[in-house]
Amino acid sequence: ERKCQLNGLWRNEQDSLMEISVVRDNGDFQGKYLTRVTLAGGCARASPLKGAQQQPGEGGWPTFAFTVRWDKFSNATTAFTGQCFVDMSGKETLTTMWLLREAVGSLKEDWKATRVGRNVFTRKRTQKE
Ligand code: BTN
Repeated sequence: ERKCQLNGLWRNEQDSLMEISVVRDNGDFQGKYLTRVTLAGGCARASPLKGAQQQPGEGGWPTFAFTVRWDKFSNATTAFTGQCFVDMSGKETLTTMWLLREAVGSLKEDWKATRVGRNVFTRKRTQKE
């Protein structure tokens, strides 16, 4: 059974792309996120993501969390939490849920500022080992 490695290129069911480039020994990781959809419906830019993975280097399938700071095109923020799974064939799946916080102009509008959803990521390219 192969264990989950977060680094690499991932795609979700909305066709967004995520590249996790650096995973440190302590579980901290970073990368870039390119969303295929935006609140405003306009163009997105690759945006920096930062996260932390639990039980790095140990057995079991790790849970993780990361935030995306949408670069330049939006002042919203998204926080994802998830877990990595591997099936019998070795295929890795990241199941996540996210909160998307939109900036609103006043406290009165706070009630409508947060969206919640689910994304499932699979590897865009299979990693040769
Ligand atoms: C914005 O439009 O203001 C920021 C981009 C938000 C994209 C969201 S984050 C959760 C969901 N999953 C994606 O891959 N894209 C959307």
